[in-house]
Amino acid sequence: MTPHQARHRAYAAAPAPVILPSLLGCDFAHMADELAALAQSGAHVAHLDVMDGHFVPNLTYGPPVIKGWRSASNLFFDAHLMIADPTRYYQNFIDAGCDQLTIHIEAVPNPAELLHAIRAAGIAAALSLNPPTPLEAITPYLDLVDQVLVMSVMPGFGGQSFDPVARPKIRTLRALKPDLAIAVDGGIKAANAGDIVADGATHLIVGSAIFGAPGGYRDALDAIRAAGLSGSGATRE
Ligand code: DX5
Ligand code: ZN
Repeated sequence: MTPHQARHRAYAAAPAPVILPSLLGCDFAHMADELAALAQSGAHVAHLDVMDGHFVPNLTYGPPVIKGWRSASNLFFDAHLMIADPTRYYQNFIDAGCDQLTIHIEAVPNPAELLHAIRAAGIAAALSLNPPTPLEAITPYLDLVDQVLVMSVMPGFGGQSFDPVARPKIRTLRALKPDLAIAVDGGIKAANAGDIVADGATHLIVGSAIFGAPGGYRDALDAIRAAGLSGSGATRE
């Protein structure tokens, strides 16, 4: 079994709701320590917020940096490609050690070929849509992905408020594909995790509620996961 296969098996076995710490508000001066602390705190995965300054009005990191983190961590790397041309760069992210690539329908309106190429490389493929994008934009491709990422903020920055427009999309996706991994990203806290999971989300991407929390990472991860598990009776938006 390759290291990627082992990471993928651990990720697939992680009990829902899976919490994905988003590497945007972390301590970039000490990334090996940060990744180790997340693993020790019970995280199975790191959500890498890749931004190119074109698709989103922010610029973060790319394959050379991710390659360094790969050598320091055995967490499953979910690369959220908030970039204008993922078709041009996807192989670089695979070579850097990413285990899943999440591309945006707004960047690749006809994603079938790219999704197939990512999976053909043995890497998980996920498709994401922004709050203004109607769910219909991605429904033709649901059989080509390992996961859907429903954005609940406009991508580019952490610390934003959860946009409830995501909730009917989650519910509709769950009804359409009972077994689909549905991730949600943006403004997720313990206070809203229960409703989001009750809507049908299985993967919660969390930034500021982990990296900005007063306690340690384990307390934050456990609190959000417990809140997700309590997902009782979603309140209709
Ligand atoms: C935003 C990123 C999100 C964000 C989440 O563009 O895709 O992953 O970092 O951060 P919070 O949880 O603070 O909204
Ligand atoms: Zn993200």
